[in-house]
Amino acid sequence: MQEEVKQSIKKLLKERNAVLLAHNYMRDEVQEIADITGDSLALSQEAAKVDADVIVFCGVHFMAESASILSPDKTVLLPRIDAGCPMADMITVEELESFKAKYPGAPVVTYVNSSAEVKAASDICCTSANAIKVVASFKEQEIIFTPDRNLGRYVGKFSDKIIHCWDGYCPTHERLKEEEVLNMKKEHPQALFICHPECTPAIVELADYVCSTSGMYDFCRSNPAKTFIIGTEAGILYKLEKENPDKTFILASQALFCPNMKLTSFEDILQALETMQPVIKVPEDIRLQAKQALDRMIAIPRD
Ligand code: 13P
Ligand code: SF4
Repeated sequence: MQEEVKQSIKKLLKERNAVLLAHNYMRDEVQEIADITGDSLALSQEAAKVDADVIVFCGVHFMAESASILSPDKTVLLPRIDAGCPMADMITVEELESFKAKYPGAPVVTYVNSSAEVKAASDICCTSANAIKVVASFKEQEIIFTPDRNLGRYVGKFSDKIIHCWDGYCPTHERLKEEEVLNMKKEHPQALFICHPECTPAIVELADYVCSTSGMYDFCRSNPAKTFIIGTEAGILYKLEKENPDKTFILASQALFCPNMKLTSFEDILQALETMQPVIKVPEDIRLQAKQALDRMIAIPRD
């Protein structure tokens, strides 16, 4: 049955001249059939240059919005319209405007995990892969950083600027507790602990390496260590294990599970391709402003 659905998806992707993009946290089988997998930065870059009529975005709402902002002539499908990001919902454009009024002249750096409206009201976007460079690109001494307080604080460790962070966070990464990491480290003393900067500062302090999801693939591939404790969403394990059959990857906590990232199934993808719905389309006035913030980010090379 699963194999039949898979073949139907592949056939329809060809017929529609569609490309399937999937985030590194998607279900294993979705990552397996994707044309391109990646972190938020790689997927935005791909969405901007991909040669297809249709983008099927297997991720969450803000990612499909970014694809629509960068590729307005393409039809962007988000197979599960209910796949949102709680962190992106933690700031509205009205709240951002009030926050900006408190720090006049401070440029606004907005994590891509945000709505198109919030991006449109920002100077530049960033992802976890380039946030340090993006903040460093400003000459101003004060920066507004939204919506992730954890990523903002992490960037602050590498900058002498004053960073005013919005109080948003990722509920999935915040569930990882210090005791869990300490226990894991005790159980596996030879292992390296790597985590995503969406984790709390206390967790970041315990890490041997902090990076985006794709940064974890690069690090684990090239590092001679044999065992890694992983502090990010469970979906990352699929490719880590596939690429490194001789290494062991241990999820730091069973709570590292993002329900939104796990919604999209083969059936949802097939239905989206059959019905060409749900379409994500950002209104043109917002799109043009949000695109400036995304383009400025894309122009800054990856770390
Ligand atoms: P990256 O893949 O950019 O590291 O992002 C993590 C994330 O939480 C996306 O929602
Ligand atoms: Fe949002 Fe966190 Fe899920 Fe990423 S892992 S989509 S930041 S809730």
